[in-house]
Amino acid sequence: MTGTTAHVESPSRWWSKDTIAVVTGGNKGIGFEIVRQLASQGITTILTARDESRGLQALSALKEDGLDVLFHQLDVTNSKSIGKLATWIKAEFGGLDILVNNAGVAWSSLPDKVLAAKEVLDTNYYGVKNLTHALLPLFRPSAAGSRVINVSSMAGQLAAVGNDKWKQQLNDEENLNEAVIESFIKVYLKDRAEGTDTVLLMPSQELLETYGNYIASKAACNAHTRVMARDLANRKEGEKIFVNCMCPGVTNTGMSHNRGHSVEEGADTAVWLVLLPASECVTGKFFLKRTDRGFLYIEEAHAPIAQPKIPQK
Ligand SMILES: NC(=O)c1ccc[n+]([C@@H]2O[C@H](COP(=O)([O-])OP(=O)(O)OC[C@H]3O[C@@H](n4cnc5c(N)ncnc54)[C@H](OP(=O)(O)O)[C@@H]3O)[C@@H](O)[C@H]2O)c1
Repeated sequence: MTGTTAHVESPSRWWSKDTIAVVTGGNKGIGFEIVRQLASQGITTILTARDESRGLQALSALKEDGLDVLFHQLDVTNSKSIGKLATWIKAEFGGLDILVNNAGVAWSSLPDKVLAAKEVLDTNYYGVKNLTHALLPLFRPSAAGSRVINVSSMAGQLAAVGNDKWKQQLNDEENLNEAVIESFIKVYLKDRAEGTDTVLLMPSQELLETYGNYIASKAACNAHTRVMARDLANRKEGEKIFVNCMCPGVTNTGMSHNRGHSVEEGADTAVWLVLLPASECVTGKFFLKRTDRGFLYIEEAHAPIAQPKIPQK
């Protein structure tokens, strides 16, 4: 476990102990580090984990480091669990200010290809969507605005969606909605059931088997970020909710088989988005290393895949 970070005291410090943050998948990896950094800033941070004992173990590690963190169970794929968390937040705090949708899976151990794909999509797309909708009425009005940060991946950049029709639909921000995203998922799942690849058009069957579910789920997560951001963009001053997604980069956790940079670096952009002063907040963007990189193509992510040309409507 690493030590605590000193509080940042600056004129742009908009948060206080009364600021409430919820982090999903906080028991390990990048989520644990996001909890640690937010709590170190003096934000009241709720570490959630699907497994109560793993969550409580993480909590006690943070408490040993002198951090005052709270815990609540949350399985993002379980609607009852989501409902219980929402009810508890309302009763304890009256609402929240920050949601970090970090929980995610890259692979499934299920042997059935369709069930495996569903597990990844249920966590990385439906988990984000359902939790965000459940907590949306609880975001509290504030001058600084509330913040939703979706910990996504550059693997979900649209360069990885080979089918031009789907690439265009997922990039058509004006007409994008949950129905479009879910049609994309439906066709992807049909591919998995039938052994075809009409959506991602991956360069090889091996790449499809290894990364297809993760790519589809994170492309859906990115698209959902844009839908939520657009739909919430016209809220009046004092009731703003900024919704963005980011990639932590290849980060040394169980998910990456312990390759990549430190969890401190992996958590950095998500924490930066949380702490930005309201005057610098944007919404509906994809960030890597604190930089808006758009939703289409990041060279680091897709070296083997050609930069996509988006067909005109
Ligand atoms: N590590 C990387 O290189 C990398 C790169 C790009 C993006 N990301 C993204 O970063 C996020 C965090 O990944 P990580 O690297 O920290 O992975 P990790 O160490 O495997 O942690 C994943 C976390 O998500 C939790 N989780 C999984 N399914 C859940 C569910 N249904 N409900 C609640 N929590 C659930 C896990 O809980 P359990 O402990 O109970 O399994 C764990 O706490 C993910 O969204 C991932 O896609 C990671």
